[in-house]
Amino acid sequence: MTDSLIEFDSALLEDGGKGIRFDLPALGEYVTGFVVRFKGNVHAYVNQCAHVSVELDWNEGDFFSMQKDYLICSTHGAHYRPDNGFCVMGPCKGKSLKSIEAVEQNGKIIINIASVAK
Ligand code: FES
Repeated sequence: MTDSLIEFDSALLEDGGKGIRFDLPALGEYVTGFVVRFKGNVHAYVNQCAHVSVELDWNEGDFFSMQKDYLICSTHGAHYRPDNGFCVMGPCKGKSLKSIEAVEQNGKIIINIASVAK
C-alpha cells in the first residue's frame, strides 16, 4: 500500500448510509474527501460543494438526502447524483463534485487520493 492509497473495510459503508471522510493533504490542510455507497457501488469525492468551497455534510458523514437518492450540500441544498457527482438541482446545477478513484475488492474499499485533480 503506498501513501496515496487509503483503505477501509467494506462493511463500514451501508448503502445510502453515512459516508466516511478522509483527509486530502495534497489539496490543503483542511480539505477532506468522502466515500459513500450507492446502489451497491462505492463513490468518492472531494468534500467541497461546486457552488462555494464548503464541506457538504450536515453532520459529519451525513451526505444523503432523506430519500437517500441524492447527496446534498448542507449550506444551500445543492443536489448531486451519488453515482457521478453531477449537480442536478441548486445554485451549481450543471457542475460536478470532483471525483476520486475508489475501488472495492476483497472486502476492502481502496481510495487513490493521488487521483484528485488539484
Ligand atoms: S455552498 Fe453548496 S449549495 Fe451553496
